[in-house]
Amino acid sequence: MSADDDKRVAAEAAVAEVRSGMMVGLGTGSTAAHMIRALGRMVADGLDIDAVATSVASAELARTLGIRVHDFAGVARVDLTIDGADEIDDRLLVVKGAGGAMLREKCVAAASGRMVVIADGAKRVPAIGAARVPVEVLPFARGFVMRALAKRADPATRMTGGVPYRTDQDMLVVDCLFRDLSEPHGTAAWLQAIPGVLGHGLFLTEVHAAYLATNGTVTKLERPVNRD
Ligand code: A5P
Repeated sequence: MSADDDKRVAAEAAVAEVRSGMMVGLGTGSTAAHMIRALGRMVADGLDIDAVATSVASAELARTLGIRVHDFAGVARVDLTIDGADEIDDRLLVVKGAGGAMLREKCVAAASGRMVVIADGAKRVPAIGAARVPVEVLPFARGFVMRALAKRADPATRMTGGVPYRTDQDMLVVDCLFRDLSEPHGTAAWLQAIPGVLGHGLFLTEVHAAYLATNGTVTKLERPVNRD
């Protein structure tokens, strides 16, 4: 089975949590796209849900599949969000944002009564930190923020087609390889305190559960009842 097959298997396991009447948060990325397609099939079969999306791309895909997608600006609470991940450890500390949507993903996750991540099993790691952590940066403050980030990480401005990548809200992404991510909560607080940093891909308290598929077999990790 390919990694993409496992992404689909994990996505199809997670959508079993979706019930009619829910407001569902739709994640971003290739694994989330499998989830949106699975939900589209369920909606065609009569599932009655409303949704908000964490990116323009996910909103467009969902709408083409007949899912009712609302503007998140008018939504205060989401029942269940299903999203992808780049690294997950067994404490459900997660790195996200390879797709550049981490700021919207964080907002929707924070509004959600429950958030589950879906991934192929290769994303499961003993401890997060090997992957670069994406940081969303106000272009106005780029030089200052790069200098601040360099105190703890190797920061690299994300490029696409020879020009700086821009997020859905026209901001920059700086991918940071931290020299030490053994205290991720402290690192997250430090990042968030830098003026000009709008968000980052460390999801340390938001995730309740993970569905991870390896060779077609799904492992579910569930956070103990009280999350951090
Ligand atoms: C989007 O910004 C990301 O957080 C994705 O959810 C994450 O990078 C996983 O992407 P894939 O499912 O494409 O691996």
